[in-house]
Amino acid sequence: MTISITRRDSAALGGNGSILMRQRRDHARLDTMMNRWLAGGADDELDALWQDIVQLVFSHAFAEETVLWPLLRRAAPHGEELTGRVEEEHQAINDLVARVEKSPDDPRRAEWIQQAFSLIRQDIRDEEDELLPRLRDEFSDRRLRWIGAAWETVRATAPTRPHPGVPRRPPGNALRGVPLSVFDRLRDLAPVSGPVARRASSVALGAVGAAAVVFCVVRTIRRPGRH
Ligand SMILES: [Fe+2]
Ligand SMILES: [Fe+2]
Repeated sequence: MTISITRRDSAALGGNGSILMRQRRDHARLDTMMNRWLAGGADDELDALWQDIVQLVFSHAFAEETVLWPLLRRAAPHGEELTGRVEEEHQAINDLVARVEKSPDDPRRAEWIQQAFSLIRQDIRDEEDELLPRLRDEFSDRRLRWIGAAWETVRATAPTRPHPGVPRRPPGNALRGVPLSVFDRLRDLAPVSGPVARRASSVALGAVGAAAVVFCVVRTIRRPGRH
């Protein structure tokens, strides 16, 4: 029987550094930020909060698509079906947020943002109740911590904006998504200057390196044992 990771304690999930605890912390942060946005406030505060949500959602999801879902497809029964469902959710979130970003003055903007929040909450539920428990079943605590570190490395340099045209699976997502993270992070760090541009370039190069390492490891894992 699948047990949701939502209410399990840290020890049962491989410790604070495991991918399961890292995911849960991010999901809780997102939930808090979405609730704050929904509670309302000054326009500039809500805009800043929305940008923080966007950055967290897309870097988090890119690292899932790069590190977690390929592992799950290799390791778990029905991995293909399970990951296909969350990839569809990620695509729908990409489409919706891209629409919000392209139409800042559209009167339907708040409605679209709330739709995006519903999709994000659904994605979190599917991951905590269905996908992440499968990782718990298939991997040892040590492996879960290693996967957590790999996911965090990729996330730190992942794109931070919606890119609906980028494939949701490796290697296409990294080949097309990682170069875009340069531009995303330049926008995040505006105003742009020489040193910032260099920093963003090195950030993207780091992401390429991290993704390459992860692909190699994912490819070598057949069916992992609990060790
Ligand atoms: Fe997640
Ligand atoms: Fe997700």
